[in-house]
Amino acid sequence: MKIQIITLFPEMFPGVLNASMLWKAQDQGAVEFSYINLRDYGLGPRKQVDDTPYGGGDGMLLKPEPLVAAIEQAKQNDPSAIVILPTPRGKVYKQSDAKALAASAQTQGLIFVCPRYEGYDERVTAYIDRQYCIGNYVLTGGELANMIMIDSIVRLLPGVLGGETSAEIESFQEDDQNIEFPQYTRPEEFRGVKVPNVLLSGHHAEIEKWRRTQSHRP
Ligand code: 6GU
Repeated sequence: MKIQIITLFPEMFPGVLNASMLWKAQDQGAVEFSYINLRDYGLGPRKQVDDTPYGGGDGMLLKPEPLVAAIEQAKQNDPSAIVILPTPRGKVYKQSDAKALAASAQTQGLIFVCPRYEGYDERVTAYIDRQYCIGNYVLTGGELANMIMIDSIVRLLPGVLGGETSAEIESFQEDDQNIEFPQYTRPEEFRGVKVPNVLLSGHHAEIEKWRRTQSHRP
């Protein structure tokens, strides 16, 4: 899977993408990241990428020309790729979206656009396939939102997740439902708090039953 990231701040990504499971995924060849610096498509000698909003208002918006030129370059690199824009105006991103993108990723690459400042000229959305919001709060830019979506997609790619059982449990995970139960490891007692007895019992049916009762949000 090819993932291209269009951003003014490529230096934000390697710390997240080149560690742990996402690094392993790259090392195995399951995913390949590349960066397009939006500044390279800026206008004029100062490589301008932003401008003030028509109608007034706070802050600056990304101009359409540089952003669309960068998207067109990314599409030229990978013509069938899906173009994703993180935006508070988008549909709320869910586990089912991660699954669908991971599944289509077998044949199609992804292009993640990172808006900055107070937003972007709405006319860029004609060049976007999916718009997602990752939650009900406001971020300073699309980089973090994209890293979150990338993490959730790449961990679902075949061969990336460690144990087969993890992938199995995953298949039961539905949107807006928490299937994660509390877990414990050694020591059996930590500062007076003991691991629940049922987990030490070796009784698999009882353990399963207990875990089902515990799979709710605290
Ligand atoms: Cl996708 N972008 C920004 N800037 N803020 C957000 C968001 C996205 N999702 C939640 N807040």
